[in-house]
Amino acid sequence: AVVQHHDFVIQATKVKRLCKTHNAITVNGQFPGPTLEINNGDTLEVKVTNKARYNVTVHWHGVRQMRTAWADGPEFITQCPIRPGQSYTYRFTVQGQEGTLWWHAHSSWLRATVYGALIIHPRIGDSYPFPKPKRETPILMGEWWDANPIDVIREATRTGAAPNVSDAYTINGQPGDLYKCSSKDTVIVPVSSGETSLLRVINSALNQQLFFTVANHKLTIVGADASYVKPFTTKVLMLGPGQTTDVLIKADQPPARYYMAARAYASAQGAPFDNTTTTAILEYKTPTCTSKNCGTTTPVMPPLPAFNDTATATAFTTSFKSPKQVPVPTKIDENLFITVGLGLNKCPPGARARNCQGPNGTRFSASMNNNTFSLPSNTSILKAYYDKIPGVFTTDFPKVPPVKFDYTGNVSRSLWQPSPGTKVYKLKYGSTVQVVLQGTSIFTAENHPIHLHGYDFYIVAEGFGNFNPKTDTSKFNLVDPPLRNTASVPVKGWAVIRFVADNPGVWIMHCHLDVHIGWGLAMTFVVENGVGESQSLEKPPPDFPKC
Ligand code: C2O
Repeated sequence: AVVQHHDFVIQATKVKRLCKTHNAITVNGQFPGPTLEINNGDTLEVKVTNKARYNVTVHWHGVRQMRTAWADGPEFITQCPIRPGQSYTYRFTVQGQEGTLWWHAHSSWLRATVYGALIIHPRIGDSYPFPKPKRETPILMGEWWDANPIDVIREATRTGAAPNVSDAYTINGQPGDLYKCSSKDTVIVPVSSGETSLLRVINSALNQQLFFTVANHKLTIVGADASYVKPFTTKVLMLGPGQTTDVLIKADQPPARYYMAARAYASAQGAPFDNTTTTAILEYKTPTCTSKNCGTTTPVMPPLPAFNDTATATAFTTSFKSPKQVPVPTKIDENLFITVGLGLNKCPPGARARNCQGPNGTRFSASMNNNTFSLPSNTSILKAYYDKIPGVFTTDFPKVPPVKFDYTGNVSRSLWQPSPGTKVYKLKYGSTVQVVLQGTSIFTAENHPIHLHGYDFYIVAEGFGNFNPKTDTSKFNLVDPPLRNTASVPVKGWAVIRFVADNPGVWIMHCHLDVHIGWGLAMTFVVENGVGESQSLEKPPPDFPKC
């Protein structure tokens, strides 16, 4: 195992998309940012220097960060932001994870342009549990706004209304040739006849779940969120923001050009969404099909599911299994039932109409168990916990919803007026945890990609309607459920996750649709130290940012 050092300079960079040039915030002037490639067991040391005019932090999405919560990155959860002109070195070891993860800014909406792939190869001498592919290509799906994304979210926060939807989706930073001024920059993925390639597909979009497909080709899924899965084939993928999927694709079609395409899976009824399609091109390189002749032919367009095709989305998300039997915790110490969903808050007394431009003069909000999560502003929860600073958070995050009702039915809003708070739930080191994530349909029902920091968890079941502990437990897969870091909680449905609290620190669990984090769809676990150094959080690094 080695220690790899990288320098990330956060800076404003001129980026031209959709006929317009912007000053986008990037890492080292690259958009998307640099791909990091390591081997299982390696240590990464990334010095982030902030030369932009915004506060920033970087999160290593899906990295377990064993005992190194200081390097996890979410702003005001594990650290204070890196101020303009300052730097901070993230240092952590990646152990026992193989496949595709990614990194992204974890402050405001900066991750719209500050993100990149993190690829973890097997240890030297180890191999994949499938034949070594000829080529490997990261496919980062993203979202692009004509305006500065920070201005978009600031405006929404001011008015209480929903933010403007994006103007394009992107693949590896490019919208592709279905958008204006984009065709000559469309991403080309070269393949040779008969060869198999590994596509490392990442949904790095801010606010949109995406379907992804490749014309005429079968997709074999072999991994997700840096764990291998039992291989299965599919025509379409559906990824929530935060999720990754490793896909084998064999070039077994007549040499030509084939579109890879992605578009929205928009599960919320009636809500506006970006209804455009992004493309890249899978291009066969053969003596008879060169860029001269084939290079000018129109690529074959694949069919894509309708934006509201929940059946296709669920068929995909429920196909995952671990490759073999896995140690799912069966005796549960901590059994939590957490509602996840949106809401509307009454306009606060004295507030002006221009700050309450949500439906019927309200402000959008979201909550978990009726708590709208608010971030501290002058220190992080981790630092406050470590230094025993009082008054930063409370430990009364409720284990069950404060009111019981028909969560997925036609709910009256009066039942559910979330209140803001910085509430955490404490876990003893080594405790076994089950969380039932229950979607709600207050204001609108929607699919929520729920991400937990510092852990992988088993998704033991998911289903529609209200979770029923009497009958639904019979659907639990306690043999070979998939290991993930982000679970799709289906629209008007639920998902059940299990994990062992073996990583001391402070770990946020949130919806990975960034607009929902801002509205408070989050909570935080504090996992206490166990016995001895090997079960305890390390000391903060010397250059840990101060508020
Ligand atoms: Cu990928 Cu808290 O995020």
